[in-house]
Amino acid sequence: MFHYTIICFLLIFSFYLSFSLETIDLSWDLNNETIYVAGMQKFNFSKQVASTSQRGYWYSFKEFCVAEHGGTHFDAPYHFHQSGWKVGDVPLSRLFAKGAFLNMEEEHLKMGRDTRLKVKDLENWETRNGKFSENSVLLVKFGRSKFWQNRTLYLDLEGETMHFPGLSKEAAQWIANSKKIIGVGVDTPSIDPGNSTDYIAHRILAENSLYNLENVKLLTDLPETGFDLVVAPMKIEEGTGAAVRIFAIVNN
Ligand SMILES: *[C@@H]1O[C@H](CO)[C@@H](O)[C@H](O)[C@H]1NC(C)=O
Ligand SMILES: *[C@@H]1O[C@H](CO)[C@@H](O)[C@H](O)[C@H]1NC(C)=O
Ligand SMILES: *[C@@H]1O[C@H](CO)[C@@H](O)[C@H](O)[C@H]1NC(C)=O
Ligand SMILES: *[C@@H]1O[C@H](CO)[C@@H](O)[C@H](O)[C@H]1NC(C)=O
Ligand SMILES: [Zn+2]
Repeated sequence: MFHYTIICFLLIFSFYLSFSLETIDLSWDLNNETIYVAGMQKFNFSKQVASTSQRGYWYSFKEFCVAEHGGTHFDAPYHFHQSGWKVGDVPLSRLFAKGAFLNMEEEHLKMGRDTRLKVKDLENWETRNGKFSENSVLLVKFGRSKFWQNRTLYLDLEGETMHFPGLSKEAAQWIANSKKIIGVGVDTPSIDPGNSTDYIAHRILAENSLYNLENVKLLTDLPETGFDLVVAPMKIEEGTGAAVRIFAIVNN
């Protein structure tokens, strides 16, 4: 009887896993070509050991150097708010979240390089899907991930100035006021637009204890709502940010 119950359970569980859940990786690989903005330490193995020891076993280890803010990464509130959480302080409950997806690619094509996410775009999302759920992370796709292989295109450089899209101040304030959204992710290097100099979206979200996910790999569309998100930054206790593994769990 006991065995029978276990077998039934395993069958149901594997059926559930193989037919209804899809996991989607939203992190870019971390390697020596990963994009960092000017002045940031790129990912680099500062030491690499790989050999077969005299006793015959294989042995390898590496050490690496990397800036906190580059590649697919997490911004802790402390990054732009002095009394905000550092990476190690962010409660675990906020790292397993409800996913919300907003596709701004067409708008970006229409409005051009300095497109801003507007309050209207968020209101329209709620008109289609109902209110944002508690503990939501909003992923905004501007359609920039397809440029990832070319740093110049991805940053849309004009001399030193970058020109990717981002959140307007008003949209950041709306998100903070919602009290439902706990984090925002974008497929660009920053939630603020590339030409921003005041980083106002970073400041507003940080003051309200939201975190950011930047350079999220958004090559395919996700459902607008009804999926889960795992956000797992490297636990750098005092970090202002960290490389992060993000994946969506979509129930088909
Ligand atoms: C980058 O990594 C690749 C693959 O490991 C390696 O072949 C190449 O030499 C590295 N380039 C630099 C500049 O370190
Ligand atoms: C990468 O690490 C090596 C070994 O420490 C060092 O010689 C090199 O300058 C580093 N490169 C970068 C770009 O940091
Ligand atoms: C990246 O894009 C720029 C601008 O279109 C182009 O000039 C450059 O050749 C591209 N680089 C690579 C490695 O494809
Ligand atoms: C960034 O670009 C937008 C749209 O072109 C413009 O309105 C804004 O003034 C620019 N911001 C800065 C700081 O140059
Ligand atoms: Zn950052």
